[in-house]
Amino acid sequence: MRARNTARAYGRVARFFHWTVAVLILAAIIIGLYAGRLPEGTEAQLRAIFTAYSVHKTVGMVALVLAVLRILWTLTQPRPRPLHPRRRLETLAAEAVHWALWIGMLVMPLSGWLLHSAAPGGFSDILWPFGQRLPLVPEDAALSERFAAFHDLGWWVLAGLVALHVLGALKHAIIDRDGTMIRMAGDPERAAEPPPAPRSGILPHVLAALAGLAIWLGVAPGPRGRPTPQPAAGPAAQAGSGWAVERGVLDIEVRQAGNAVLGEFGQWQADIDYDPQSRSGRVTVEVDVASLTLGAVGDTAKGPDFLDAAAHPTARFEAQILPPQAEDQPHMAQGLLTIAGQTVEAALPFDLSVAGDLAQARGRMQVDRRDFGIGAGYADESTVGFAVGIGFELSAKRQ
Ligand code: HEM
Ligand code: HEM
Repeated sequence: MRARNTARAYGRVARFFHWTVAVLILAAIIIGLYAGRLPEGTEAQLRAIFTAYSVHKTVGMVALVLAVLRILWTLTQPRPRPLHPRRRLETLAAEAVHWALWIGMLVMPLSGWLLHSAAPGGFSDILWPFGQRLPLVPEDAALSERFAAFHDLGWWVLAGLVALHVLGALKHAIIDRDGTMIRMAGDPERAAEPPPAPRSGILPHVLAALAGLAIWLGVAPGPRGRPTPQPAAGPAAQAGSGWAVERGVLDIEVRQAGNAVLGEFGQWQADIDYDPQSRSGRVTVEVDVASLTLGAVGDTAKGPDFLDAAAHPTARFEAQILPPQAEDQPHMAQGLLTIAGQTVEAALPFDLSVAGDLAQARGRMQVDRRDFGIGAGYADESTVGFAVGIGFELSAKRQ
């Protein structure tokens, strides 16, 4: 069989690309659905989910590379002529579906790669040595959600297109018995000689391409498939206690399967008393645990194995603010940290600058989740790290 296409049949290279990409896309859909439906609860189950997503992503990336090579190859090839050029509508429909499949072959893995790249921390690696994240894509949970919404809706569209395409191929094989399948799967010598192409100009091709594009533009607005997370409502200011928080971020960082995953609490409030003269005071922070967003694993983190937001809706830090030991040293908030019903002593170093009635502070500490009995069933650090970073940044105004 010839490597190149002819007017009658696809050549060896086009067939190799067609069937490998077809198998990889179907495999990506099946593994993606399988991974999303695996039970999560124990450490072994979490590991199985990571592995399934890693395989899913890798299969998808190989499909992307082959699809790009396939497009480059196709551009250098003659296209086998339509077998029934007089059935204009049918030919146009088949071509429109082909266009939509070409686009789908690119945008499905690309949206997957984008959602993976934007996910804060990522959560299971693509199994290849060429790096994980696309350059220039910021780590942004909301952006990742938008690509995920496209990805989740997009696979339905791609699967629908493949179904139409296969039904078309079956119609040719069973009803028309016209040898269309032979052009892609059989002996090219047996492929029928297509009639000469009528002069139809470029317009039908442009229409088919636009129809194929329109299908994907319909998916593009994105976040219809799942609700977009609300922007963090931020801390509720507390008046009458010295300093009121005007803006602030409270984040946590955990390691999962070796990757750092960053999360944020959307709802918390701080009651701050601080005397700039003595550089000391006290602070109480109350955090609404259910307001945590944490990459793709927020729900697991808030579930019974970890923070158990249902049983322990509030986390609390009650501390004395101690002055810096020396000029270049940070302040220290030293006190009791209560998470998931367990209270532990904790010290949070932070930098503070006060200018008139405005104060800016930022600090970070590490705690060990085992001290709070969090994730007790996850005894292996390579699945969920023991150390958890807790950080904040805020600006406050004197009352
Ligand atoms: C698994 C069942 C599949 C069957 C039976 C099948 C069958 C065929 C056949 C017979 C052709 C040649 C049509 C012609 O000569 O006019 C073709 C072309 C094509 N197929 Fe498939 N296909 C399948 C899966 C897929 C999948 C999963 C994709 C992509 C996501 C795909 C994308 C394409 C494209 C883009 C063309 C046009 C190729 C070109 O013009 O260079 N196919 N397919
Ligand atoms: C041929 C390409 C691909 C197809 C057809 C595909 C299809 C799918 C499907 C069917 C799901 C399950 C959706 C559900 O549970 O409702 C899924 C989820 C997912 N895919 Fe892909 N995928 C592809 C490529 C990729 C790539 C290349 C990556 C990353 C590099 C990726 C990352 C993900 C992630 C993180 C999820 C879970 C998040 C979510 O629910 O959207 N995918 N994909």
